[in-house]
Amino acid sequence: MRFDIATLFPKMCEAVLSESIIGRARTAGFLEVNCWNIRDYTLDKHRRVDDSPYGGGRGMVMQADPIFRCYQAICADGEMAEKPHCIYLSPKGKVLTQQRARELVQQPRLFLLCGHYEGVDERVLNEIIDEEISIGDYVLTGGELPALVLVDTIARMLPGVLPEKCCFEEESHYSGLLEYPQYTRPAVWHGQEVPEVLLTGHHKNIADWRFAQSLDMTKQHRPDLYLDYLNKK
Ligand code: ADE
Repeated sequence: MRFDIATLFPKMCEAVLSESIIGRARTAGFLEVNCWNIRDYTLDKHRRVDDSPYGGGRGMVMQADPIFRCYQAICADGEMAEKPHCIYLSPKGKVLTQQRARELVQQPRLFLLCGHYEGVDERVLNEIIDEEISIGDYVLTGGELPALVLVDTIARMLPGVLPEKCCFEEESHYSGLLEYPQYTRPAVWHGQEVPEVLLTGHHKNIADWRFAQSLDMTKQHRPDLYLDYLNKK
């Protein structure tokens, strides 16, 4: 799968995506991520990419043309024939869920547009964007962190990125429930004992205990998810 991130801060994205599991997966070729600097596509001699909003108001708005020219360069780059599915990261978008990430992992190619300042000229969004995604009901200074969250969420479901499918299939949100608690050695720490069933080696009892814990945890922490789960059963 190929991701292209259009941003004013490519170094910020590259720094995160070069580390840890995603960094190793990129080196191994399980996914391709390219970070593009929108500023490289402005025709302005001072390399400007923003201007004040029509109608007045505070802040600056990112101009349509540098973004569009960057998008065209991305579409023309490489061998892939298909147009990328285009996402604008914005607090006005639909909130990201594990379910949406599972659908997006089917796309061969994603284009992620990171906004800044007071937003992006609406006309370029009309022209190139297929969907807007928010990572939650709060406002960040730009779309870079949300784009990185989206890449990470999707990339870890790609074949080869994690050692086994069960690494993500058993986790919080995948099944609609939160994950059961985990323990490792020592068996007693600061006077707290590991639940006895986990020391028995009895696989069926352990699976039942974990499922009960998942249900209980979801009911306590996320009653909204718990109700959805019961309704879908
Ligand atoms: N840009 C600023 N805040 C955001 C959010 N919550 N989600 C996605 N993009 C954003």
